[in-house]
Amino acid sequence: MGIYMSLLGRLSFRHFIWLTLLSLAVAPVWAEGTAKSVAEVTESPLTIIYSGNLEGELEPCGCSAEGNFGGIKRRASLLQTLRSKDPAVVVLSAGGLLSADGPGDRLKSQYILKGFAAFNYDAVAVQWRDLSYGAEFIESALPWVLSNVDVGGHFQAQHLITRGAETIAYFNWLDSKASPLRQMQGEHGLVKDSPTELLKALKLAKAQGQLTVLATSLSAQQIAGQMSLSNVDILIEGAAYEVYGKPRMEGNTLVVQPGSRGMRLGRLDLMLKAGHIQGWKHEVLPMPTSIPDAPELAAWYDEYNERVKADYLKRVAARNKLTAGSSPYVGEAVCQTCHAAQHKTWFDSQHAIAYEDLEDVNKAFDPACIKCHTVGFDLPGGFFDMNVTGHLLGVQCESCHGAGKAHVEAAGAKPVANAGWSKEKICAQCHVQKHSPGFNLDTYWPKIAH
Ligand code: HEC
Ligand code: HEC
Ligand code: HEC
Ligand code: HEC
Repeated sequence: MGIYMSLLGRLSFRHFIWLTLLSLAVAPVWAEGTAKSVAEVTESPLTIIYSGNLEGELEPCGCSAEGNFGGIKRRASLLQTLRSKDPAVVVLSAGGLLSADGPGDRLKSQYILKGFAAFNYDAVAVQWRDLSYGAEFIESALPWVLSNVDVGGHFQAQHLITRGAETIAYFNWLDSKASPLRQMQGEHGLVKDSPTELLKALKLAKAQGQLTVLATSLSAQQIAGQMSLSNVDILIEGAAYEVYGKPRMEGNTLVVQPGSRGMRLGRLDLMLKAGHIQGWKHEVLPMPTSIPDAPELAAWYDEYNERVKADYLKRVAARNKLTAGSSPYVGEAVCQTCHAAQHKTWFDSQHAIAYEDLEDVNKAFDPACIKCHTVGFDLPGGFFDMNVTGHLLGVQCESCHGAGKAHVEAAGAKPVANAGWSKEKICAQCHVQKHSPGFNLDTYWPKIAH
């Protein structure tokens, strides 16, 4: 613990808690320096490092005067040091790694996954935010665990980690009410509201002498309202903002709470006996500038910055192209000037809010979805992103009629690009079986006729 203790000594927010679960008379007190007695032979120590809710922070607080706290490169070297002292250390994440709030977040998320892959996490819980770009986006990168949402067999419902005689069973419960997938149609995510299967698995794990760890984005109180925690040894509850919570016992469950934004790691030192916690202590490991960046991640970081730059230049080029007038699209507001009646009908239709609906399900940055929920995505001069092409959001006139700039410049004398297309052909661009199973031209057209 040496160097961390000296780092910790300088910081006021550290916790250092030391408890035994059973009364002292029954259980041996486990403390540093205590020699093992014969009665303790079946006990073994285990260290769990845990974290949660990185929330897309490659490097948090890079702008502050003190420099940033934490960050992926520093986390890598801290974990390396911890593992060099104890190769058996178990490293768990409660998930929430990604963010999908801005145009650069997809790229950043890709690099977070790559960076995390270098950590060799033993298991990572999936949170809704991790599914922002779809299950396929994250699937192969890490040992993800998701116990109550069926996203097409992409993730394990539980993950077993073995260390010596002890086995740790890691589970993850997501709040179904917070599911953005709920509103989607078709094949998207089935959330199981009933905890029956998870409770069964927890019971079985305990019966087999495993240490059960459950991650959730809910608070301990909320999850206790949804299911019994009697077979949960350790609950990693929903993250607090930045600072780790103080661990506590709720019944027989040890509840820990990670802090968000990747600034710190939680360290739980356990004394176990056949999957039962005999004693524990807890501390929070900060990641100040004195922890060096892991050199292995230097190339990863440079590559990320290169990609961000390339992305930025692409954006600038797209904007220049639009302002130079080379886009064949004009946007609905221009059509409105001559077709006010048609515009009114369109404005009141679902098509006009197709992009907002994507935002509601946190998918407004997934090209696989944007395609049908904006104008001309991936076509020259078409929708690019919210900032550059904010006039091409949603399913607009030009999604159906085709690019209209030439038509507008000729004041209607030239036909729109898709003039001559049948209704069927127009609708079939997007109303395909997979995304609109109930589509029927005879019933759908009257709803949008103009
Ligand atoms: C400056 C006025 C003006 C603007 C702006 C304008 N239109 Fe027109 N549009 C016309 C006129 C005039 C006609 C009728 C032409 C005719 O009947 O021969 C027309 C006809 C149409 C028609 C039916 C005939 C055809 O060409 O297929 C469609 C569809 C149409 N416009 C779509 C659009 C769309 C989409 C936009 C925006 C991209 C738009 N218009 C913007 C003036 C305009
Ligand atoms: C091939 C085109 C297409 C793609 C790709 C597509 N959608 Fe859609 N989406 C549609 C159509 C068409 C509808 C309307 C379905 C209907 O009502 O029949 C729709 C409806 C929706 C709705 C329902 C809105 C409501 O209030 O009922 C949501 C939400 C949605 N899509 C999200 C997504 C997400 C998320 C993705 C990416 C995973 C996606 N879509 C990809 C065409 C598409
Ligand atoms: C979902 C596809 C779709 C969208 C969105 C859409 N249209 Fe149309 N529009 C059509 C179709 C299909 C027709 C042809 C109707 C027919 O043949 O009876 C049509 C017909 C028209 C016509 C000719 C009307 C007439 O009286 O013959 C105009 C003008 C027009 N649209 C303008 C617009 C404008 C302006 C917008 C946007 C504010 C818009 N449309 C949005 C599909 C669409
Ligand atoms: C560019 C893709 C695209 C095209 C082309 C398109 N739609 Fe849509 N449509 C959508 C999307 C996306 C939605 C879902 C919008 C939302 O609610 O977020 C939708 C929704 C609808 C709805 C509302 C469904 C409901 O449950 O109220 C109707 C009706 C509809 N479309 C009819 C049509 C018809 C008819 C055509 C062809 C003339 C057509 N659409 C062409 C993408 C498209």
